[in-house]
Amino acid sequence: QSNSLWGGRFQEQIASTALEYTESLAVDAAMLTEDIWGSKAHVIMLGANGIIDDEDTRAILSGLESARREVDENTFTLDVADEDVHMNVERYVTSRHGKRGARMHTARSRNDQVITDTRLHTRGLILGIEREVIALQDTLLTLAADHTDTLSMGYTHTQHAQPITIGYWATAYVGMFRRDLVRLRNAYRSTDINPLGAGALAGTSFPTDRRLTTELLGFADVQENGLDAVSSRDFGLEFLSALAILVSNISKIAEEIVYWSTHEFRLVEVADGYAMGSSMMPQKKNPCVAELIRGKTGKVYGRLVELLTMMKGIPTGYNRDLQEDKPPIWEASASAASTIRTLNGLLSTLRFNPDRMRELAHKNFALATEVADYLVKTQNIPFRECHRIVGETVGSLYRRNLTFENVEETVQALAAAGAKVTAEEIAPVLDPVVSVNSHTSLGGTAPAEVLRMIKAERERLEEHTHDVDAR
Ligand code: ARG
Repeated sequence: QSNSLWGGRFQEQIASTALEYTESLAVDAAMLTEDIWGSKAHVIMLGANGIIDDEDTRAILSGLESARREVDENTFTLDVADEDVHMNVERYVTSRHGKRGARMHTARSRNDQVITDTRLHTRGLILGIEREVIALQDTLLTLAADHTDTLSMGYTHTQHAQPITIGYWATAYVGMFRRDLVRLRNAYRSTDINPLGAGALAGTSFPTDRRLTTELLGFADVQENGLDAVSSRDFGLEFLSALAILVSNISKIAEEIVYWSTHEFRLVEVADGYAMGSSMMPQKKNPCVAELIRGKTGKVYGRLVELLTMMKGIPTGYNRDLQEDKPPIWEASASAASTIRTLNGLLSTLRFNPDRMRELAHKNFALATEVADYLVKTQNIPFRECHRIVGETVGSLYRRNLTFENVEETVQALAAAGAKVTAEEIAPVLDPVVSVNSHTSLGGTAPAEVLRMIKAERERLEEHTHDVDAR
């Protein structure tokens, strides 16, 4: 007979290749604590409903409690021969409490057990990510508040578009990451349901109380249908989808830091602590940290695709393929967590270069829209016509290698295109500070509006923080 806990039916031992190929201990070890917690809840429930007697209940609980202590003290040993954490914990209890211990798996299957553990562990992972995003939001909001007046260039098509401020740029990311937080909370809600009590797939004839285990494990609700409970991994897909979108936003910010720190742009400089040199070229300061933040996005996307592919075409009921759900969840989560934390450090030490931005704003016609708007307001010319006038003006200056800094030539070119203005009146229109300050529309780049957005985002962030603390 096989000495495995399920070995009654078998006459031979499992082949070592088969055991090595199928065991999941290194991955499962992450949820040892949850496995013991889940077993305690199950055994308390069995005892409370007279499914096992009080002495058995006490014996098993004391076995589980000493297992928990060993896990906390890092002395709990895992034996590969027992395949996974569930069997290891059960072996630990039965080896100490014999026949009493052997009752702990009454009215339970590893199928509902493993997914209970996975959901419990994933809940913690999601909360951990939410906390990292909250810390990042705090950094971005502080940065935004410090830079409501710091000029920056706004781009479309990576071409100079209109002046903005660094505070405005930072609050754009705050909006993105706020929606990431909402997606993470939704994934948490999908995760926070109790599959324990589903049994192998069909429930059980024992008088179990699934509401009690739900309460003991702090789940928001019971996951009712047992077949659904043992088959579903959609919570993992939801979490990884939320992470994939989150890191796509992070990759965007990393990319901006990489090319804004080129000599050609010179809009930002990363701190020495977040840059690296070259082994051959002594002058180099490479934004390696930002590049790796951008690069590690691939891992999270890959893990999502891995889980999606693994889940495709698996029929209902537990199938062993499902064991492959944990590595992608653990690894995508760990990668995203360290990425967010590192970005936080990179951003809080980043230096901005408003002088360079001012230089760019003047040299490349970024105030052209302001000139057109000025003509609309002061000369009652329709916008489309003003667009043409300013377009012709820019074209004429550009062909002669001139810029808006050449105010006299600008005034002449405007007149030739059909708009009479004086140098005195056009000078302030060509000032990026004046431009930024005037963009007071809802969600505009004016410092007052950015301050209002910062305040509103701070309030939303505090609400989300309370919500995380309460979970
Ligand atoms: N190690 C397995 C997993 O992670 C536990 C469940 C095994 N169930 C089974 N029927 N073989 O999915």
